[in-house]
Amino acid sequence: MNALSIDKNKRILVIDDNQAVHEDFQKILGLNEIDAASLDKAEEALFGGVPTTRKAEGFDIDSAYQGQEALKLVREAVQAGCPYAMAFVDIRMPPGWDGLETILRLWQDDPDLQVVICTAYSDYTWQEIIGKLGIADRLLILKKPFDNIEVRQLAYALTQKWKVIRQTRQKIDDLHEVVQERTDELQQQKRHLEDTVEQLNQVHTQLLQAQKLESIGQLAAGIAHEINTPTQFVGDNIRFLHDAFSDLRTLLAKYEQLLEASRENQPPPELVAEADAAVEEADVEYLTEEIPKAIDQSLEGVERVAKIVRSMKEFSHPGGEDKQAADLNKAIETTVTVARNEWKYVAEMVTDYDPSLPLVPCLIGDFNQVVLNMIINAAYAIKDVVGHNTGKKGTITVVTRQDGDWARICISDTGSGMPAEIRSRVFDPFFTTKDVGKGTGQGLAIAHTVIVNKHGGCIDVESEVGKGTTFIIRLPIESALDEQAGVECREEAHSLR
Ligand SMILES: Nc1ncnc2c1ncn2[C@@H]1O[C@H](COP(=O)(O)OP(=O)(O)OP(=O)(O)O)[C@@H](O)[C@H]1O
Ligand SMILES: [Mg+2]
Repeated sequence: MNALSIDKNKRILVIDDNQAVHEDFQKILGLNEIDAASLDKAEEALFGGVPTTRKAEGFDIDSAYQGQEALKLVREAVQAGCPYAMAFVDIRMPPGWDGLETILRLWQDDPDLQVVICTAYSDYTWQEIIGKLGIADRLLILKKPFDNIEVRQLAYALTQKWKVIRQTRQKIDDLHEVVQERTDELQQQKRHLEDTVEQLNQVHTQLLQAQKLESIGQLAAGIAHEINTPTQFVGDNIRFLHDAFSDLRTLLAKYEQLLEASRENQPPPELVAEADAAVEEADVEYLTEEIPKAIDQSLEGVERVAKIVRSMKEFSHPGGEDKQAADLNKAIETTVTVARNEWKYVAEMVTDYDPSLPLVPCLIGDFNQVVLNMIINAAYAIKDVVGHNTGKKGTITVVTRQDGDWARICISDTGSGMPAEIRSRVFDPFFTTKDVGKGTGQGLAIAHTVIVNKHGGCIDVESEVGKGTTFIIRLPIESALDEQAGVECREEAHSLR
């Protein structure tokens, strides 16, 4: 029922087994304008005061003679969307349901129905009525014989009350609708925000990946240089060994002839002279000294190349989405190796690894990236102090320690240091003091995300202008021990099978 029809609802159901009662109600409530005017006069005579001229209210009155019939009418009215506002209900209506039974049934179908119980006898006390019906706020009692005015007042008051209840409910429903709409909007905004955060996370991951690729690109030239140096001297040494071997082969041939001759008899003196000449030619003394050196150097060179290649492989290892128990000392050593060309011209590298540092749950690719960023930053800050190609060097120190439940990694440099206003912004994305086009200001922002968000660790900086800077990273180690214990446990179980 819409607001207009709520406003106009004057439907009243009279339920009584007595035909005369129905006629009475029709007379009292079904007034025409003349009746209304005479009723006004009567009211004035009875209650005094200025008469209010009113129009006939035009109550719409239906009759039911039994409870069952009333229920049918109420049900149909509800289904048709034009329910009764109120009902006058007789208490005694043989042979069917009595008034209370009828009211109970009617309320099951139409809980808003306002009810006036009409009774001539004290069949039930008020307490009994309430006890049976359980509700008192939609119920009034009207004693027979009726006072007409009272009937009219009840009809006005209760149809009005029904209207107010319905309007209030309508208001609440409207309010619910508004709240629901607003909630939907907020939900939509929330989903939108979640999508944006998700997209940002993706961009962030892509950025991290891009930075990794970029630094691998940047490192590639340095690594090529690092590999080139040992490769060159290994090549020189092999060429030297090649020539030396050719000299030695000539010498060996002479020695063979000499041996042959001495077996038969006295070797001819010219053969001895030739062997002497070959010894001279080959510079045997020099070769016996230099060949082992060349071999050792070559082996060392090959080992250096192998180490760089191994480190590159480990450094650029993509790692998985999940953390794995990692040896941080080894990871740092790997990064120090691949980044060698970035620091070796400006700094000595001092490493002090805690040999008893337990494995730490780690996204190793991301962690390597953090260490690399810090080493490159340190080298950059030192270059600021020692200058370019001056031969002077500062120091980068990397220390690892177990600190309770944490693995602590300190990366210090003897570079330019930072004033407080820079120190407080170094982890901000895109903050850089490098010249335009030189730095993106992403290094430490990414380091912060990796250490704090991805590992639940923390990252701090201490710095003094003119003295240098230390970055302190802490990663939780506890779960690594559990994970490792889990792995060992599984391995043990496997070997027992
Ligand atoms: N070890 C350090 N010593 C002195 N200042 C530093 C050090 N590390 C970082 N900073 C300061 O913090 C700023 C931000 O560092 P971050 O690594 O985030 O970006 P960037 O090095 O400037 O650029 P990118 O890493 O993208 O090349 C640097 O520009 C520098 O001013
Ligand atoms: Mg940087």
